[in-house]
Amino acid sequence: MDFRIDLAVIEILPKGSRFGLTLHNLSEKSVANWQLNFAFDRHIEQASLSHGTLTQVGSLCTLSINSTPLYANNHCYVEFAIATSPFKLLSDGIKEAYLTTDSGTQCTVSVSPIVLKEAIDQPSEVPSVKTARHKLIPEPMSANFNSGVYELTRYSQITVDNTEFQSAANWLAEEITRLFSIESKSIGQQDIHFRHSPVLDTEEYKLIVNDNGVVIESTSQSGFIYGAATLIQLMDFDAARHTLYIPFCQIHDKPRFAYRGMMIDSARSFQSVEDIKRLINLFAHYKLNTFHWHLTDDEGWRVEIKALPELTEIGAWRGPNETLEAQFHHINQRYGGFYSQEDIKDVIAFAAQRGIQVIPEIDIPGHCRAAIKSLPHMLVDPDDRSIYRSVQHYNDNTLSPGIDGTYRFLDIVLEETSELFPAPYVHIGADEVPVGVWEKSPSCQALMETHGYSSSKELQGHLLRYAEDKLKSLGKRMLGWEEAHFGHKVSKDTVIYSWLSEEAAINCAKLGYDVVLQPGQTTYLDMAQDHCPTEPGVDWANVITLEQAYLYEPLSELSSNDPIKKRILGMQAALWTEIVSHQQRLDYMIFPRLLALAETAWGLESRKNYSAFLARLKAHLSLLQRQGVHYRDPWTHTEEPENAHHQTNNNNNDKI
Ligand code: ACM
Repeated sequence: MDFRIDLAVIEILPKGSRFGLTLHNLSEKSVANWQLNFAFDRHIEQASLSHGTLTQVGSLCTLSINSTPLYANNHCYVEFAIATSPFKLLSDGIKEAYLTTDSGTQCTVSVSPIVLKEAIDQPSEVPSVKTARHKLIPEPMSANFNSGVYELTRYSQITVDNTEFQSAANWLAEEITRLFSIESKSIGQQDIHFRHSPVLDTEEYKLIVNDNGVVIESTSQSGFIYGAATLIQLMDFDAARHTLYIPFCQIHDKPRFAYRGMMIDSARSFQSVEDIKRLINLFAHYKLNTFHWHLTDDEGWRVEIKALPELTEIGAWRGPNETLEAQFHHINQRYGGFYSQEDIKDVIAFAAQRGIQVIPEIDIPGHCRAAIKSLPHMLVDPDDRSIYRSVQHYNDNTLSPGIDGTYRFLDIVLEETSELFPAPYVHIGADEVPVGVWEKSPSCQALMETHGYSSSKELQGHLLRYAEDKLKSLGKRMLGWEEAHFGHKVSKDTVIYSWLSEEAAINCAKLGYDVVLQPGQTTYLDMAQDHCPTEPGVDWANVITLEQAYLYEPLSELSSNDPIKKRILGMQAALWTEIVSHQQRLDYMIFPRLLALAETAWGLESRKNYSAFLARLKAHLSLLQRQGVHYRDPWTHTEEPENAHHQTNNNNNDKI
């Protein structure tokens, strides 16, 4: 590669850091009128630039120093500062870069790892533990093991006494085939019996394994899925004999929280339908019941809306020649994608078979840049002179409550979304509306005057109440991030997802809202898993070790019998994907921390014990390998190698 940039932190400021950036021309040719484009997700203070000019749209920075050619075998150097917290991780540096020259040529620029000033080098120690006898995660409410094992072979059969639950039985058969290459053939034996039990709660199940075989009792599709997931975790495979051994046991289990979710951001990075299904399938193994799908944001609109095709024709793509500028990664090419309505129906059906509901998120009124750039005639308020900068450094990403187009847009999008997703909920975001929006919009100011509003928060509430009423008319309950109740306009039927702090959840619960807990400090899986600078991730909310993820306890400040706790519907983990661009990294960030959080969401608080969890996890890693998951090994701090799945498929030494 002919060009390279080096970035070094040269000074830690009282609040922020100063950097030196060196651009090397390693070629034999000088270039004049060059522009350096690079992805950097902190805001660079214009006034701090030592020379040249710099523009920044989101994470995309464009630097030029027109008076200075970049001479052959030479370099140029600039300094700049940021005002956010100092860098501790290599992931904080420049992600990607390319150079454009006066002839219009694009040249790739290699990026050296950032040189940090203060970094903790040692990964934290995870206690070494003895491998547990079983690998059940989450830990069941009650499990008793007896001596003896039941043997399942390729001749085993699953029977169902109520055809309503056939698809749960099919899932079990498919998973046994996929994980152990055992295809069960029907010969009339009843090795695994799905028995309908009308006396159990919806998500409750019983699993009994003895000489007679395996019985799973439940009253719902999801209950049978949980029983099947537990059964799979009990299996011990002897490849030579094509036999699965299951220890004799009686398990009785039901969830602690009714809502157990995982949010995936498909806007910042796009995952294929197959990648999404693979994740949903894994979520079912850990007894989650909700997939919260973050489908729209500043950097991409991912859901087909038939009446507004521009949203995906324009808003699903970013790159050098697209309406939306490149961001984060793949910056010198067209990047993106979207889910057609057929794709989404396929995902919903796939998730439903696994007992998982899919909740769409259409993030409004902030985080709407992709929509606004796709539909400027509908969504731009031409007289708005407001000046603002969003957390992610955009000055044009917020819908205007003062123009008709916004309401027409909401009607169309919410109608199609509500029709497409059968879940009785739609999440409307409502987070991070930038300070300063609507202040210099005559139409917004007139609206405020008409209604006697005194702050932009009330105007935001006005728009969200419109969305809530619209959703109610479509038979849906509105969900929103904690800012959704700002301005006190939405009703108490709205469910609040707290993300900035636990305090917000307590306050909202006290006001009478139902809440879902998703505090960034313990559930954001894009946070780095350790302080070591090479650890991928970000750290603005925290560094979340496996232990911190495990020890998270929703509203632990309140006493266990505080009635406010009744307002907690449940909890979820989240993966924002600015720097999570491919499946292997997705796995690495999610696993095994999701297993720790899933245990809190499902299992009894009184049975939580980190050492015991680690002992089960140690036994469980072989199953993650078999699943082909590129997890982070907490003991070696390394990523599971790509071929691990094949290695373990060929060995037979993982017996209990
Ligand atoms: C969020 O993290 N902005 C919900």
